[in-house]
Amino acid sequence: MEPAKKIILAVTGATGMIYVLKFLELLRDKNIEIHGIISDAGRKVLRLEMNMEHQSLPGVSRWFDCHDFTAPMASGSCHYDSMVILPCTAGTLGSIASGISGNLIHRAADVSLKERRPFLLAVRETPFNKTHLKNMMSVHDAGGIICPPMPSFYSKPQNIDEMARNFSGRICDQLGITVEGVKRWKGVDHDF
Ligand SMILES: Cc1cc2nc3c(=O)[nH]c(=O)nc-3n(C[C@H](O)[C@H](O)[C@H](O)COP(=O)(O)O)c2cc1C
Repeated sequence: MEPAKKIILAVTGATGMIYVLKFLELLRDKNIEIHGIISDAGRKVLRLEMNMEHQSLPGVSRWFDCHDFTAPMASGSCHYDSMVILPCTAGTLGSIASGISGNLIHRAADVSLKERRPFLLAVRETPFNKTHLKNMMSVHDAGGIICPPMPSFYSKPQNIDEMARNFSGRICDQLGITVEGVKRWKGVDHDF
């Protein structure tokens, strides 16, 4: 079994809540403690897209109020292995790029960057304007991994669940978490 890990999952109000569900399903039975934060807009979009409340998402050990600056992830002295914002709005990206710790998600992101921990942002917007692109460059230069939800099609996903699971698997790869059940390219002469 892999050694225990502790990660932060931040959910903001962009479309793509199915990725959150698939990500958590992939981490099921892994030795990983997941601490969740969801923005106010994130709660609304989760309801709209999935008819769900964040408390019923599987596998999150603890949820923290996104306005609670006394939460453990507000300080670099509390250790986490990595952080992912999934999905990440253009607004949250902008706050992080400018170093504005306006809520706990922005602050935890700021801490992840200053502590040089793996930090991934699944930035979701289309098309991107120049401000989005500049903000992504800033966060990239500060050490973040910009990983927009861009599913692949060479594995011929049969449904939305499979497509979303494959993308969420790429996030796990980036965070150094080994997961099963995702399709991988093995060369032109090989089946998936
Ligand atoms: C159904 C729905 C989908 C949205 N999708 C996106 C999106 O894909 N990307 C984005 O940047 N904002 C999106 N928004 C707007 C954000 O929710 C809004 O800008 C919000 O203030 C972001 O706050 P947060 O970053 O704290 O979650 C969406 C809003 C709604 C209601």
